[in-house]
Amino acid sequence: MEETPDAKFYVEASEARTFVENVLIGNGVPAANAEVVARCLVAADLRGVDTHGINRIPSYMTRLRQGVLDATASPELTKVTPVVAQVDARNGFGFLAASKGMAAAVDMAREFGIGMVSIKHSNHFGMSAWIVQQAIDAGMMSLVFTNSSPALPPFGGKEKLLGVSPIACGAPGGKEKPFILDMAPSVAARGKIYKAKRRGEKIPLDWALDSEGRPTDDPEAALGGVMQPMGGPKGSGLAIMMDVFSGVLSGSAFAGNVTGPYDPSKPSDVGHFLIAIKPDLFLSLQDFRERMDYLYQRVVGVDKAAGVDRVYFPGEIEQLRQEEREKSGIPLVQAEIDALNEEAKRGGQDWGENAV
Ligand SMILES: NC(=O)c1ccc[n+]([C@@H]2O[C@H](COP(=O)([O-])OP(=O)(O)OC[C@H]3O[C@@H](n4cnc5c(N)ncnc54)[C@H](O)[C@@H]3O)[C@@H](O)[C@H]2O)c1
Repeated sequence: MEETPDAKFYVEASEARTFVENVLIGNGVPAANAEVVARCLVAADLRGVDTHGINRIPSYMTRLRQGVLDATASPELTKVTPVVAQVDARNGFGFLAASKGMAAAVDMAREFGIGMVSIKHSNHFGMSAWIVQQAIDAGMMSLVFTNSSPALPPFGGKEKLLGVSPIACGAPGGKEKPFILDMAPSVAARGKIYKAKRRGEKIPLDWALDSEGRPTDDPEAALGGVMQPMGGPKGSGLAIMMDVFSGVLSGSAFAGNVTGPYDPSKPSDVGHFLIAIKPDLFLSLQDFRERMDYLYQRVVGVDKAAGVDRVYFPGEIEQLRQEEREKSGIPLVQAEIDALNEEAKRGGQDWGENAV
């Protein structure tokens, strides 16, 4: 086995889920809730979104121990109209609130064609695509929005004010892959900078500015500066859109007042916004699915630009990665394994041979 710091060790998804569940339980999370959080985190690792997977455990556990994230909280859902519900996450895990919220949105959409859920007083829910996938598994289209802690300046500013808040949406396909777009409005997600820092890697110069407003390839300097919005005012406009729908509308924090998942000083007060839509409102389900397949085939079959081997549908790269990782396991470097084992010990568990 290689000894270099970036050597990868592979962990089976089911082992990773059990490990994370036990770390959560060891830190006071009820078993049923721990199962949901572990499943969502491992789903991110399986899709190759390592920035939002089980490596987030140490930062979440710091927040639990600090008492700014409530280990025992379960979300409370209130119906507002037949097609609208509100979820109070009660400062518990964002995974629980979003999972309950999307389940309710899907139920409403099944009966009335559409379901809309606003979520307040929540926390980071990791990778948005797991919520889109929850809707797809129920045969639904969806929109999944969240706000997040300040990381981006509004266009023309130099102060962190807006979140790198992902916009996500999806639709089931027929025989082909479903459509899953899940993108942060920055050139890169901030989690990619934390990952580079953990792994001792440099970052591309167009991802962030340092505290002096200069491009930097140093993740530490980037975290002390600001992220670059994608497409200038368009990226900053999308970040504001996430804050309007997730923060202003819900009653949660907004306008730069969400606390980040790596800041254990106070509750996050994140807001989310979810919509589920029944895809056969205007056409038969079979027509819809055939039309999605046609769109998929047109997109991936387009004439390729010079040097391009393959054109992908949104979400397809991550689904191919998932198929691969379901066989190979999830790659982790030693420093990540050490950090996870440290959390296991702190939670009073002796993992022995079960250590990741
Ligand atoms: N919860 C939060 O506060 C938060 C904040 C930021 C980011 N995130 C998560 O971080 C993750 C990463 O975000 P990101 O913006 O860096 O993602 P990304 O840039 O890797 O991908 C964005 C989208 O583009 C698609 N894509 C990427 N390469 C493609 C290609 N070659 N051809 C076709 N489609 C392609 C992907 O399928 C995806 O839908 C997301 O899962 C997001 O939800 C979460």
